[in-house]
Amino acid sequence: MTDPSSSLLAQLMEYQKHSVVPMHMPGHKRNTQSAPYLAALGAPYDITEIEGFDNLHHPGGILKHGMERAARLWGCDHSFFLVGGSTCGILAGIRAATQYGDSILLGRNCHQSVYHAIEICGLRPHFLLPPMDDTFGIFGSLSPEQVAQALEQHPDVSLIVLTSPTYDGVLTDVTSICDLAHARGIPVLVDAAHGAHLGFSPGFPSSAVQDGADLVIQSLHKTLPSLTQTAIAHVNGTRIPCSAFSQELRMFETSSPSYLLLSSIDGCIRLLEESSSLFENWESLLANFNQQMYQLRHLQIFGYGTDQEKSHPAVFRFDPSKILILTDGTPYTGPLLMDRLRRDCGIELEMASAHYALAMTGLLTTKDHMDCLAAALWGLDQNGQTTISHPAPRRNATLPRQIAIPGAVRPLPHHSVRADEAVGHMIGEYVWVYPPGVPLLIPGEQLDAAMLEHLASLQTQGVAIQSTSGNAPGHFEIIDNSNGFHHGGKMK
Ligand SMILES: Cc1ncc(COP(=O)(O)O)c(C=O)c1O
Repeated sequence: MTDPSSSLLAQLMEYQKHSVVPMHMPGHKRNTQSAPYLAALGAPYDITEIEGFDNLHHPGGILKHGMERAARLWGCDHSFFLVGGSTCGILAGIRAATQYGDSILLGRNCHQSVYHAIEICGLRPHFLLPPMDDTFGIFGSLSPEQVAQALEQHPDVSLIVLTSPTYDGVLTDVTSICDLAHARGIPVLVDAAHGAHLGFSPGFPSSAVQDGADLVIQSLHKTLPSLTQTAIAHVNGTRIPCSAFSQELRMFETSSPSYLLLSSIDGCIRLLEESSSLFENWESLLANFNQQMYQLRHLQIFGYGTDQEKSHPAVFRFDPSKILILTDGTPYTGPLLMDRLRRDCGIELEMASAHYALAMTGLLTTKDHMDCLAAALWGLDQNGQTTISHPAPRRNATLPRQIAIPGAVRPLPHHSVRADEAVGHMIGEYVWVYPPGVPLLIPGEQLDAAMLEHLASLQTQGVAIQSTSGNAPGHFEIIDNSNGFHHGGKMK
């Protein structure tokens, strides 16, 4: 029998000592003698849902206790452990909150999993374009005013999806948008994949759970000490029923969850319960880094050193765990800076765009890590006399015309044509810039000359354009007879 007071890993270790004959999955049978590579991967503790270890999709024992502990920690009604990343939580959450064919309201800068949910659920998306931050050329925050106006135009939306914080670290005013939505009985789902660490200490903004969202999805693995793929979902109230969410998770999440992943979720939650000093340490590392960054003369870091958060009016709040380094006015582009840090300083960044690069810190970032980054940035900054200017590529200020919903278009026959021939036609694929992977075109939208020009200018500035077919921006998949398209999935 398992003991809910001891960690899942401790119990797996205890279980392993009993040498029970494993006539069940997984196929490795904990036989690390014959497959030595499995020993270092934790195979001795890699079990399936056997007696005493509960069932992720019908929790009633140790996993249920763990989820209840998580709900208390985050201050919500119910928490769900996820082993398919935030991706599976977003797919399940959107499906749980909508009926096939419903309208939803969302920022254009959402993750591909949200677009995939729109497609699978046959939803009618009403996109809002967040304002741009002029200095860094990143998406700012959707404003409550934008949402209020959109709700006037589309009073029938059954869900609002917000991304807060974004990959870049930009937060949205979730509280005000929830107030607007809830006054109309509309639930709010927040993709907080990058915000699992929020709300635990005064140095970081509040979490979307505290801000009143109905369903919040967080990747534990992005900022907290938990294995890759682990995530958590938090439900508050009944606008998105727990039972519906848990039912949908069965559709989007494996029926064979890894106990290694589940143990890391359990361990992470226990660490958060016990160690508030870890947050204090993180905050003080960032405060120290802030002091060091005042000495930069060329590189600019969002919200650090001389760059003040309040000088970015398009941004509601910024997550200080993200170190966003602007390379405009230096000899570097984002990818060049990333490359120099890798080659000369042994530092691997999270990503680089044409004119900035992103360093991500986490709860277990050490003083050595931060000192190393600070010293490397100083070093590069010293060499950074302003010789070359790389203007920030600006994203398209308007949204493409949406002719039909993605779910109706994707199954239709399509064919590849040259870019100039594709202008005016309905596109049958996703086209996005990488990073951060935000789609510029989705199935059902019309390619126009302005978009083609925009893609070309992004490409000139070194931004990678990707598409479902892999052929954009030279060629695009267009829907056969797209000019005479007649289908039930037309946008209203
Ligand atoms: C904004 C956002 N949402 C969702 C996800 C998906 O998270 P996961 O990789 O945990 O599935 C990501 C991944 O990078 C993301 O950036």
